[in-house]
Amino acid sequence: MTANKIKVGLIGAGFIGALHAKNLSRHPGIELAYVAEPNSDLGGKVAAEVGSKWIADPAEILSDSSVDAVWIASPASTHTDLIRRSIEANKAVFCEKPVGMDLVEVDALVDKYEDYGKPVFIGFNRRFDGSHARLKEIVESGAIGKVEMVSITSRDPNPPPVYYMKATPGGIFYDTIIHDLDIARWLLGEEPVEVYSTASCHLDNEVNPDREYDAATVTLKCASGAVCQITASRRAVYGYDQRIEVFGSKGMVQSENHGQSNVKLYQQDSIKQDPLQNFFIDRYATAYVSEIDTFVAACRGEKVDFPNLKDGREALFLSFEALKSARSDGPVRLG
Ligand SMILES: NC(=O)c1ccc[n+]([C@@H]2O[C@H](COP(=O)([O-])OP(=O)(O)OC[C@H]3O[C@@H](n4cnc5c(N)ncnc54)[C@H](O)[C@@H]3O)[C@@H](O)[C@H]2O)c1
Repeated sequence: MTANKIKVGLIGAGFIGALHAKNLSRHPGIELAYVAEPNSDLGGKVAAEVGSKWIADPAEILSDSSVDAVWIASPASTHTDLIRRSIEANKAVFCEKPVGMDLVEVDALVDKYEDYGKPVFIGFNRRFDGSHARLKEIVESGAIGKVEMVSITSRDPNPPPVYYMKATPGGIFYDTIIHDLDIARWLLGEEPVEVYSTASCHLDNEVNPDREYDAATVTLKCASGAVCQITASRRAVYGYDQRIEVFGSKGMVQSENHGQSNVKLYQQDSIKQDPLQNFFIDRYATAYVSEIDTFVAACRGEKVDFPNLKDGREALFLSFEALKSARSDGPVRLG
Protein backbone atom coordinates (compact mmCIF):
# COMPACT_ATOMS: atom_id res chain seq x y z
CA MET A 1 0.00 0.00 0.00
CA THR A 2 1.61 3.31 -1.07
CA ALA A 3 0.57 6.54 0.68
CA ASN A 4 -2.62 4.81 1.78
CA LYS A 5 -3.52 3.76 -1.77
CA ILE A 6 -4.24 0.15 -2.65
CA LYS A 7 -1.92 -0.82 -5.49
CA VAL A 8 -3.96 -2.83 -8.00
CA GLY A 9 -3.27 -4.92 -11.09
CA LEU A 10 -6.23 -5.32 -13.46
CA ILE A 11 -6.54 -8.57 -15.45
CA GLY A 12 -8.59 -8.30 -18.64
CA ALA A 13 -9.34 -5.10 -20.52
CA GLY A 14 -12.39 -6.18 -22.51
CA PHE A 15 -15.88 -4.77 -22.14
CA ILE A 16 -16.19 -4.70 -18.35
CA GLY A 17 -12.41 -4.53 -17.73
CA ALA A 18 -12.23 -1.22 -19.62
CA LEU A 19 -15.04 0.17 -17.46
CA HIS A 20 -13.32 -1.00 -14.26
CA ALA A 21 -10.02 0.48 -15.50
CA LYS A 22 -11.65 3.89 -15.82
CA ASN A 23 -13.33 3.70 -12.41
CA LEU A 24 -10.23 2.31 -10.66
CA SER A 25 -7.96 4.97 -12.16
CA ARG A 26 -10.25 7.75 -10.90
CA HIS A 27 -10.62 6.33 -7.39
CA PRO A 28 -8.68 8.22 -4.70
CA GLY A 29 -7.97 5.01 -2.78
CA ILE A 30 -6.46 3.11 -5.72
CA GLU A 31 -3.24 3.17 -7.69
CA LEU A 32 -3.86 1.22 -10.90
CA ALA A 33 -0.35 -0.06 -11.61
CA TYR A 34 -0.95 -2.64 -14.36
CA VAL A 35 -3.44 -3.61 -17.04
CA ALA A 36 -2.83 -7.24 -18.09
CA GLU A 37 -4.44 -8.09 -21.42
CA PRO A 38 -3.21 -10.57 -24.07
CA ASN A 39 -4.71 -8.48 -26.89
CA SER A 40 -1.96 -5.87 -27.25
CA ASP A 41 -4.05 -3.31 -29.17
CA LEU A 42 -6.80 -3.39 -26.58
CA GLY A 43 -4.49 -3.62 -23.56
CA GLY A 44 -2.24 -0.81 -24.84
CA LYS A 45 -5.22 1.43 -25.54
CA VAL A 46 -6.94 0.93 -22.18
CA ALA A 47 -3.66 1.23 -20.23
CA ALA A 48 -2.77 4.46 -22.04
CA GLU A 49 -6.23 5.92 -21.39
CA VAL A 50 -5.88 5.40 -17.65
CA GLY A 51 -2.15 6.13 -17.34
CA SER A 52 -1.24 2.58 -16.37
CA LYS A 53 1.30 0.02 -17.62
CA TRP A 54 0.15 -2.55 -20.19
CA ILE A 55 1.46 -6.09 -19.79
CA ALA A 56 0.44 -9.20 -21.73
CA ASP A 57 0.70 -11.75 -18.94
CA PRO A 58 -0.92 -11.40 -15.49
CA ALA A 59 2.02 -13.33 -13.96
CA GLU A 60 3.90 -10.02 -13.70
CA ILE A 61 1.20 -8.66 -11.38
CA LEU A 62 1.31 -11.75 -9.20
CA SER A 63 5.10 -11.70 -8.84
CA ASP A 64 5.27 -7.98 -7.97
CA SER A 65 5.32 -7.94 -4.16
CA SER A 66 4.37 -4.24 -4.08
CA VAL A 67 0.96 -5.02 -5.63
CA ASP A 68 -1.73 -5.29 -2.92
CA ALA A 69 -4.69 -6.47 -4.95
CA VAL A 70 -5.70 -8.17 -8.18
CA TRP A 71 -8.82 -7.08 -10.06
CA ILE A 72 -10.00 -9.91 -12.35
CA ALA A 73 -12.15 -9.03 -15.38
CA SER A 74 -11.04 -11.74 -17.81
CA PRO A 75 -13.46 -14.39 -19.15
CA ALA A 76 -15.38 -16.60 -16.70
CA SER A 77 -13.35 -19.73 -17.58
CA THR A 78 -10.17 -18.07 -16.20
CA HIS A 79 -11.61 -16.90 -12.87
CA THR A 80 -11.10 -19.88 -10.52
CA ASP A 81 -7.45 -20.31 -11.51
CA LEU A 82 -6.67 -16.59 -11.34
CA ILE A 83 -8.31 -16.27 -7.90
CA ARG A 84 -6.26 -19.25 -6.65
CA ARG A 85 -3.00 -17.84 -8.05
CA SER A 86 -3.76 -14.40 -6.61
CA ILE A 87 -4.41 -15.84 -3.15
CA GLU A 88 -1.22 -17.90 -3.38
CA ALA A 89 0.60 -14.65 -4.20
CA ASN A 90 -0.90 -13.16 -0.99
CA LYS A 91 -3.05 -10.56 -2.76
CA ALA A 92 -6.50 -9.22 -1.99
CA VAL A 93 -8.84 -10.17 -4.83
CA PHE A 94 -11.77 -8.67 -6.70
CA CYS A 95 -13.19 -11.03 -9.32
CA GLU A 96 -16.04 -10.44 -11.71
CA LYS A 97 -18.90 -12.91 -11.60
CA PRO A 98 -19.04 -15.85 -11.99
CA VAL A 99 -16.45 -17.31 -9.63
CA GLY A 100 -15.74 -19.94 -12.32
CA MET A 101 -17.53 -22.36 -14.58
CA ASP A 102 -16.58 -25.70 -13.01
CA LEU A 103 -18.29 -26.32 -9.68
CA VAL A 104 -15.83 -29.04 -8.63
CA GLU A 105 -12.91 -26.63 -9.07
CA VAL A 106 -14.84 -23.85 -7.34
CA ASP A 107 -15.65 -26.12 -4.39
CA ALA A 108 -11.98 -27.06 -4.03
CA LEU A 109 -11.07 -23.35 -4.04
CA VAL A 110 -13.71 -22.50 -1.43
CA ASP A 111 -12.71 -25.45 0.79
CA LYS A 112 -9.09 -24.34 0.76
CA TYR A 113 -9.45 -20.58 0.94
CA GLU A 114 -12.81 -19.70 2.50
CA ASP A 115 -10.97 -18.37 5.57
CA TYR A 116 -8.22 -16.56 3.66
CA GLY A 117 -7.32 -13.46 5.64
CA LYS A 118 -7.68 -10.91 2.81
CA PRO A 119 -10.81 -9.90 0.90
CA VAL A 120 -11.94 -12.07 -1.99
CA PHE A 121 -14.75 -9.98 -3.41
CA ILE A 122 -17.02 -11.34 -6.17
CA GLY A 123 -18.44 -8.65 -8.47
CA PHE A 124 -22.16 -8.87 -7.78
CA ASN A 125 -22.45 -5.15 -8.41
CA ARG A 126 -26.23 -4.94 -7.99
CA ARG A 127 -25.85 -5.18 -4.20
CA PHE A 128 -24.12 -1.77 -4.42
CA ASP A 129 -26.89 0.02 -6.27
CA GLY A 130 -28.21 2.79 -4.01
CA SER A 131 -31.88 1.78 -4.36
CA HIS A 132 -31.28 -1.94 -3.85
CA ALA A 133 -28.97 -1.24 -0.89
CA ARG A 134 -31.64 0.98 0.70
CA LEU A 135 -34.24 -1.76 0.20
CA LYS A 136 -31.93 -4.24 1.94
CA GLU A 137 -31.43 -1.78 4.80
CA ILE A 138 -35.21 -1.49 5.22
CA VAL A 139 -35.64 -5.27 5.17
CA GLU A 140 -32.91 -5.63 7.80
CA SER A 141 -34.46 -2.92 9.99
CA GLY A 142 -37.49 -5.17 10.49
CA ALA A 143 -39.85 -2.54 9.02
CA ILE A 144 -41.63 -5.10 6.83
CA GLY A 145 -41.44 -7.88 9.42
CA LYS A 146 -40.49 -11.40 8.47
CA VAL A 147 -39.64 -11.83 4.77
CA GLU A 148 -42.23 -14.04 3.05
CA MET A 149 -41.90 -13.35 -0.67
CA VAL A 150 -39.25 -11.77 -2.87
CA SER A 151 -40.03 -10.86 -6.50
CA ILE A 152 -37.25 -9.92 -8.88
CA THR A 153 -37.80 -8.69 -12.43
CA SER A 154 -34.72 -8.63 -14.60
CA ARG A 155 -35.06 -7.94 -18.31
CA ASP A 156 -32.34 -6.81 -20.68
CA PRO A 157 -33.21 -4.31 -23.42
CA ASN A 158 -31.71 -6.53 -26.11
CA PRO A 159 -29.98 -9.88 -26.48
CA PRO A 160 -26.22 -10.39 -26.77
CA PRO A 161 -24.72 -11.11 -30.22
CA VAL A 162 -25.42 -14.51 -31.82
CA TYR A 163 -21.81 -15.73 -31.32
CA TYR A 164 -22.13 -15.04 -27.58
CA MET A 165 -25.43 -16.94 -27.28
CA LYS A 166 -23.83 -19.84 -29.20
CA ALA A 167 -20.80 -19.92 -26.87
CA THR A 168 -22.90 -19.95 -23.70
CA PRO A 169 -25.75 -22.50 -23.97
CA GLY A 170 -28.17 -21.98 -21.11
CA GLY A 171 -26.26 -18.78 -20.38
CA ILE A 172 -29.35 -16.84 -19.37
CA PHE A 173 -29.07 -18.75 -16.06
CA TYR A 174 -25.34 -18.62 -15.26
CA ASP A 175 -24.54 -15.35 -17.03
CA THR A 176 -27.42 -13.03 -16.15
CA ILE A 177 -29.85 -14.68 -13.69
CA ILE A 178 -26.83 -15.44 -11.50
CA HIS A 179 -27.01 -11.75 -10.44
CA ASP A 180 -30.66 -12.20 -9.43
CA LEU A 181 -29.86 -15.40 -7.55
CA ASP A 182 -27.25 -13.51 -5.57
CA ILE A 183 -29.81 -10.78 -4.79
CA ALA A 184 -32.34 -13.49 -3.81
CA ARG A 185 -29.93 -15.06 -1.28
CA TRP A 186 -28.97 -11.62 0.02
CA LEU A 187 -32.60 -10.72 0.72
CA LEU A 188 -34.05 -14.06 1.80
CA GLY A 189 -31.42 -14.47 4.50
CA GLU A 190 -31.64 -18.25 4.25
CA GLU A 191 -30.56 -20.80 1.66
CA PRO A 192 -33.23 -22.18 -0.69
CA VAL A 193 -34.02 -25.89 -0.44
CA GLU A 194 -35.71 -26.23 -3.82
CA VAL A 195 -35.55 -24.57 -7.23
CA TYR A 196 -38.07 -24.80 -10.04
CA SER A 197 -37.43 -23.06 -13.37
CA THR A 198 -39.05 -22.66 -16.74
CA ALA A 199 -37.30 -21.39 -19.83
CA SER A 200 -38.34 -20.61 -23.39
CA CYS A 201 -37.31 -19.00 -26.68
CA HIS A 202 -39.30 -16.04 -27.95
CA LEU A 203 -36.78 -14.13 -30.05
CA ASP A 204 -36.62 -14.30 -33.86
CA ASN A 205 -34.32 -16.78 -35.58
CA GLU A 206 -32.23 -13.88 -36.79
CA VAL A 207 -31.09 -13.02 -33.24
CA ASN A 208 -31.51 -16.50 -31.73
CA PRO A 209 -30.83 -19.01 -34.55
CA ASP A 210 -29.98 -21.87 -32.16
CA ARG A 211 -33.18 -21.45 -30.17
CA GLU A 212 -31.29 -20.77 -26.95
CA TYR A 213 -33.32 -19.93 -23.87
CA ASP A 214 -34.01 -16.20 -24.00
CA ALA A 215 -36.63 -15.96 -21.24
CA ALA A 216 -36.87 -17.75 -17.92
CA THR A 217 -38.56 -17.88 -14.57
CA VAL A 218 -37.01 -19.25 -11.38
CA THR A 219 -38.80 -20.05 -8.14
CA LEU A 220 -36.70 -20.60 -5.03
CA LYS A 221 -38.31 -22.15 -1.96
CA CYS A 222 -36.80 -21.95 1.54
CA ALA A 223 -37.34 -24.24 4.52
CA SER A 224 -39.25 -21.48 6.37
CA GLY A 225 -41.74 -21.21 3.50
CA ALA A 226 -40.23 -17.97 2.17
CA VAL A 227 -40.21 -17.92 -1.63
CA CYS A 228 -38.43 -15.90 -4.31
CA GLN A 229 -39.64 -15.56 -7.87
CA ILE A 230 -37.38 -14.27 -10.63
CA THR A 231 -38.54 -13.44 -14.14
CA ALA A 232 -35.88 -12.71 -16.72
CA SER A 233 -35.77 -11.94 -20.42
CA ARG A 234 -33.04 -11.07 -22.87
CA ARG A 235 -35.33 -8.54 -24.57
CA ALA A 236 -37.52 -5.73 -23.24
CA VAL A 237 -38.52 -3.17 -25.85
CA TYR A 238 -38.93 -0.46 -23.20
CA GLY A 239 -35.39 -0.63 -21.74
CA TYR A 240 -33.52 -2.23 -18.85
CA ASP A 241 -36.18 -3.48 -16.44
CA GLN A 242 -34.75 -3.96 -12.93
CA ARG A 243 -37.24 -4.20 -10.09
CA ILE A 244 -37.18 -5.85 -6.69
CA GLU A 245 -40.06 -6.26 -4.26
CA VAL A 246 -39.91 -7.81 -0.80
CA PHE A 247 -43.17 -8.68 0.92
CA GLY A 248 -43.20 -9.40 4.64
CA SER A 249 -45.49 -9.96 7.61
CA LYS A 250 -45.66 -6.20 8.34
CA GLY A 251 -45.45 -4.60 4.92
CA MET A 252 -43.77 -4.44 1.56
CA VAL A 253 -40.80 -2.60 0.07
CA GLN A 254 -39.96 -2.00 -3.58
CA SER A 255 -36.88 -0.89 -5.48
CA GLU A 256 -38.29 0.51 -8.68
CA ASN A 257 -36.93 1.12 -12.16
CA HIS A 258 -34.70 4.08 -12.86
CA GLY A 259 -35.80 6.33 -15.71
CA GLN A 260 -33.55 8.52 -17.81
CA SER A 261 -35.04 11.38 -15.81
CA ASN A 262 -37.61 11.79 -13.05
CA VAL A 263 -39.69 14.17 -15.16
CA LYS A 264 -43.35 13.37 -15.87
CA LEU A 265 -45.61 15.12 -18.37
CA TYR A 266 -49.28 15.23 -17.24
CA GLN A 267 -51.91 15.96 -19.92
CA GLN A 268 -55.66 15.56 -20.22
CA ASP A 269 -55.57 11.96 -21.47
CA SER A 270 -52.12 10.70 -20.48
CA ILE A 271 -49.17 10.86 -18.17
CA LYS A 272 -45.82 10.48 -19.89
CA GLN A 273 -42.31 10.00 -18.62
CA ASP A 274 -38.89 9.41 -20.11
CA PRO A 275 -37.81 5.87 -20.98
CA LEU A 276 -35.88 3.61 -18.62
CA GLN A 277 -32.12 3.75 -18.46
CA ASN A 278 -30.82 1.68 -21.32
CA PHE A 279 -28.70 -1.11 -19.84
CA PHE A 280 -26.46 -2.11 -16.95
CA ILE A 281 -23.64 0.30 -17.78
CA ASP A 282 -26.06 3.21 -17.20
CA ARG A 283 -28.33 1.70 -14.55
CA TYR A 284 -25.51 0.42 -12.38
CA ALA A 285 -22.90 3.12 -13.14
CA THR A 286 -22.72 4.22 -9.51
CA ALA A 287 -22.82 0.61 -8.23
CA TYR A 288 -19.55 -0.14 -10.07
CA VAL A 289 -17.95 2.76 -8.19
CA SER A 290 -19.51 1.84 -4.83
CA GLU A 291 -18.11 -1.66 -5.11
CA ILE A 292 -14.63 -0.13 -5.41
CA ASP A 293 -15.31 2.00 -2.29
CA THR A 294 -16.31 -1.16 -0.42
CA PHE A 295 -13.33 -3.12 -1.71
CA VAL A 296 -10.93 -0.37 -0.57
CA ALA A 297 -12.60 -0.29 2.87
CA ALA A 298 -12.32 -4.09 3.13
CA CYS A 299 -8.62 -3.97 2.16
CA ARG A 300 -8.09 -1.38 4.92
CA GLY A 301 -9.57 -3.80 7.43
CA GLU A 302 -12.89 -1.99 7.90
CA LYS A 303 -15.91 -4.15 8.70
CA VAL A 304 -17.97 -4.00 5.51
CA ASP A 305 -20.28 -6.48 3.80
CA PHE A 306 -19.48 -7.73 0.33
CA PRO A 307 -20.17 -10.83 -1.77
CA ASN A 308 -17.38 -13.26 -0.89
CA LEU A 309 -16.01 -16.51 -2.31
CA LYS A 310 -18.78 -18.58 -0.69
CA ASP A 311 -21.46 -16.22 -2.05
CA GLY A 312 -19.90 -16.62 -5.49
CA ARG A 313 -20.07 -20.41 -5.11
CA GLU A 314 -23.68 -20.44 -3.94
CA ALA A 315 -24.92 -18.22 -6.77
CA LEU A 316 -23.07 -20.37 -9.33
CA PHE A 317 -24.50 -23.55 -7.82
CA LEU A 318 -28.05 -22.15 -7.87
CA SER A 319 -27.66 -21.01 -11.49
CA PHE A 320 -26.59 -24.51 -12.57
CA GLU A 321 -29.42 -26.15 -10.59
CA ALA A 322 -31.92 -23.67 -12.03
CA LEU A 323 -30.75 -24.56 -15.55
CA LYS A 324 -31.05 -28.25 -14.67
CA SER A 325 -34.62 -27.68 -13.53
CA ALA A 326 -35.53 -25.87 -16.76
CA ARG A 327 -34.00 -28.63 -18.88
CA SER A 328 -35.72 -31.42 -16.92
CA ASP A 329 -38.99 -29.50 -16.61
CA GLY A 330 -39.30 -30.24 -12.92
CA PRO A 331 -38.29 -29.01 -9.47
CA VAL A 332 -34.81 -29.78 -8.13
CA ARG A 333 -34.15 -30.40 -4.42
CA LEU A 334 -31.00 -28.63 -3.23
CA GLY A 335 -28.39 -29.52 -0.67
N1 LIG B 1 -20.89 -7.42 -13.22
C1 LIG B 1 -21.26 -7.03 -14.40
O1 LIG B 1 -22.11 -6.17 -14.57
C2 LIG B 1 -20.60 -7.63 -15.62
C3 LIG B 1 -20.84 -7.07 -16.88
C4 LIG B 1 -20.18 -7.62 -17.97
C5 LIG B 1 -19.33 -8.71 -17.82
N2 LIG B 1 -19.16 -9.24 -16.57
C6 LIG B 1 -18.28 -10.42 -16.38
O2 LIG B 1 -16.93 -10.00 -16.60
C7 LIG B 1 -16.20 -11.03 -17.24
C8 LIG B 1 -15.60 -10.47 -18.53
O3 LIG B 1 -16.65 -10.11 -19.40
P1 LIG B 1 -16.42 -9.12 -20.64
O4 LIG B 1 -17.77 -8.88 -21.21
O5 LIG B 1 -15.61 -7.95 -20.24
O6 LIG B 1 -15.58 -10.05 -21.63
P2 LIG B 1 -14.62 -9.60 -22.81
O7 LIG B 1 -14.47 -10.79 -23.66
O8 LIG B 1 -15.12 -8.34 -23.42
O9 LIG B 1 -13.25 -9.27 -22.09
C9 LIG B 1 -12.41 -10.23 -21.51
C10 LIG B 1 -10.96 -9.79 -21.79
O10 LIG B 1 -10.08 -10.62 -21.06
C11 LIG B 1 -8.96 -10.91 -21.89
N3 LIG B 1 -8.31 -12.11 -21.40
C12 LIG B 1 -8.55 -13.40 -21.73
N4 LIG B 1 -7.76 -14.22 -20.99
C13 LIG B 1 -7.00 -13.43 -20.22
C14 LIG B 1 -5.99 -13.68 -19.26
N5 LIG B 1 -5.63 -14.93 -18.93
N6 LIG B 1 -5.41 -12.62 -18.65
C15 LIG B 1 -5.78 -11.36 -18.95
N7 LIG B 1 -6.75 -11.07 -19.85
C16 LIG B 1 -7.35 -12.09 -20.45
C17 LIG B 1 -9.53 -11.02 -23.28
O11 LIG B 1 -8.51 -10.80 -24.27
C18 LIG B 1 -10.58 -9.93 -23.27
O12 LIG B 1 -10.09 -8.68 -23.74
C19 LIG B 1 -17.18 -12.18 -17.45
O13 LIG B 1 -17.04 -13.13 -16.43
C20 LIG B 1 -18.55 -11.52 -17.38
O14 LIG B 1 -19.56 -12.39 -16.91
C21 LIG B 1 -19.76 -8.73 -15.49
